[in-house]
Amino acid sequence: MALSNTTKPKKPIISIQSSLATTLFFIVLFTIPALLLLHTPTTSNCTTLSTQSKAWSGDLRTAEFAWNHLVFADATPPPVKLKIAVFSRKWPIGSTPGGMERHAHTLHTTLAHRGHQVHVFTSPVNDISLTKLDNPTVEDGPILSPIIHCHEGSEPGRWRYNKAWEQFEEENHRQPFDVVHSESVALPHWLARNLPNLAVSWHGIALESVHSSIYQDLARRPEEPISPEFNKSLHGVIPKVLNEIKFFKNYQHHVAISDSCGEMLRDVYQIPSKRVHVIINGVNEEDFQEDSRLGFEFRSTIGVPQNASLVLGVAGRLVKDKGHPLLHEAFSKLKNRHPDVYLVVAGAGPWGQRYEDLGSQVIVLGSMKPSELKFFYNAIDIFVNPTLRPQGLDLTLMEAMMSGKPVMASRFPSIKGTIVVDDEFGFMFAPNVESLVAVLEAVVAEGAESLSRRGKACRSYAASMFTARKMASAYERLFLCIKNETFCSYPRF
Ligand SMILES: *[C@@H]1O[C@H](CO)[C@@H](O)[C@H](O)[C@H]1NC(C)=O
Ligand SMILES: *[C@@H]1O[C@H](CO)[C@@H](O)[C@H](O)[C@H]1NC(C)=O
Ligand SMILES: *[C@@H]1O[C@H](CO)[C@@H](O)[C@H](O)[C@H]1NC(C)=O
Repeated sequence: MALSNTTKPKKPIISIQSSLATTLFFIVLFTIPALLLLHTPTTSNCTTLSTQSKAWSGDLRTAEFAWNHLVFADATPPPVKLKIAVFSRKWPIGSTPGGMERHAHTLHTTLAHRGHQVHVFTSPVNDISLTKLDNPTVEDGPILSPIIHCHEGSEPGRWRYNKAWEQFEEENHRQPFDVVHSESVALPHWLARNLPNLAVSWHGIALESVHSSIYQDLARRPEEPISPEFNKSLHGVIPKVLNEIKFFKNYQHHVAISDSCGEMLRDVYQIPSKRVHVIINGVNEEDFQEDSRLGFEFRSTIGVPQNASLVLGVAGRLVKDKGHPLLHEAFSKLKNRHPDVYLVVAGAGPWGQRYEDLGSQVIVLGSMKPSELKFFYNAIDIFVNPTLRPQGLDLTLMEAMMSGKPVMASRFPSIKGTIVVDDEFGFMFAPNVESLVAVLEAVVAEGAESLSRRGKACRSYAASMFTARKMASAYERLFLCIKNETFCSYPRF
């Protein structure tokens, strides 16, 4: 219905020659977000679920909410030890990993620890000394860490799926794998098609990039010309969605990493509900603890004066599509009105210097190792994520909440449906300067003390939902369920 109401392509808009494709592009561009908006009521069902989680029972494959709401017996050994194959374009050894690689590493290290035999098929690693990996062998007894198979025949980090596939087939021939896990399209659909025991994790899908294209273009200044690359991606995005919809069905099981992605896979991509499972990524609980003493010391180390009334923090690559032009402009307006409010920037990139230029109320730390981030999170009062490109779900939001901090983030379905599910946890803004300034003013007016109370609520939610342990036990259960249907029934099998 929404389609026929919102679009009336009757009027001759420009000329009859304007191609059908262009018209179609605009129809789809504006109606898909509308469809997404119409779906939001179902998302809110999930928020009430956190309190009811213990009551739920049934076939896990029918669960449309995130499995993180459930409780799994991760203290006891798994009922069956599985042989698991993982296809990941990269494996983080000796390099700064992206979100997807961190996910693969955290998940499969944990599963190996639990006694599953995990084989990772990946590209050659960076460090020459590590090329000959000292893999443990099955004969040595329990392995407890993943076995890494780096394929040959390309430079480090360059993924050749056909090489990896050969290695997989050899290993599968020796002893068949119980389950195969692909990180995104590491395993292409024409190979995935023949694997009934395959699960793929989507770290961002093309339909999400429709939303992000809209936000990025709206954030462009009136005098700023559209860049050729962006224009190209804007025109390519709908064909990309259509293409994905056509090939996604070749993957048997789909893991969505946010509630809204799960909905898109079911409702727009038309994947049967029983093959779509929502499992939110997790972060290591031990790495992100609440520690006010640590935060206090770090503040003085980096030069935040004691009379600062509020400290905002932002982390990640300082690039345009992470929304830094917005935050930069918004904070430059805010800082003169509130000379005791500070912004701490943990990250490096083209916007670093511009932040420096804003003066003493902005402290730029440069890029930080994952192990150093806990100092940063503890030193701030609230975490800001102005992203314009939310494909997947930014781990920084979960890290901040796990460290006991409330968050401020762009209003995207993934963030709204999975992270800021309760007003208590923080604030959302439309990604434009006015909206961001208005929310910043509200945050300043509320003050650090009240924000710290919100932070407690964040910590408790994050500790129940966003731990690496919770993620790993949910995946373990999914893999068991793929191996043998008996394990699909919750709570017991
Ligand atoms: C954007 O791309 C379209 C189609 O490729 C083209 O017709 C249009 O002129 C481009 N616009 C700009 C501003 O580059
Ligand atoms: C905060 O304290 C510093 C000295 O540490 C002082 O120079 C500055 O004026 C004070 N700022 C405010 C807003 O009171
Ligand atoms: C599935 O697991 C149950 C319980 O462990 C077992 O009785 C059954 O034989 C298994 N089925 C298959 C097909 O392996």
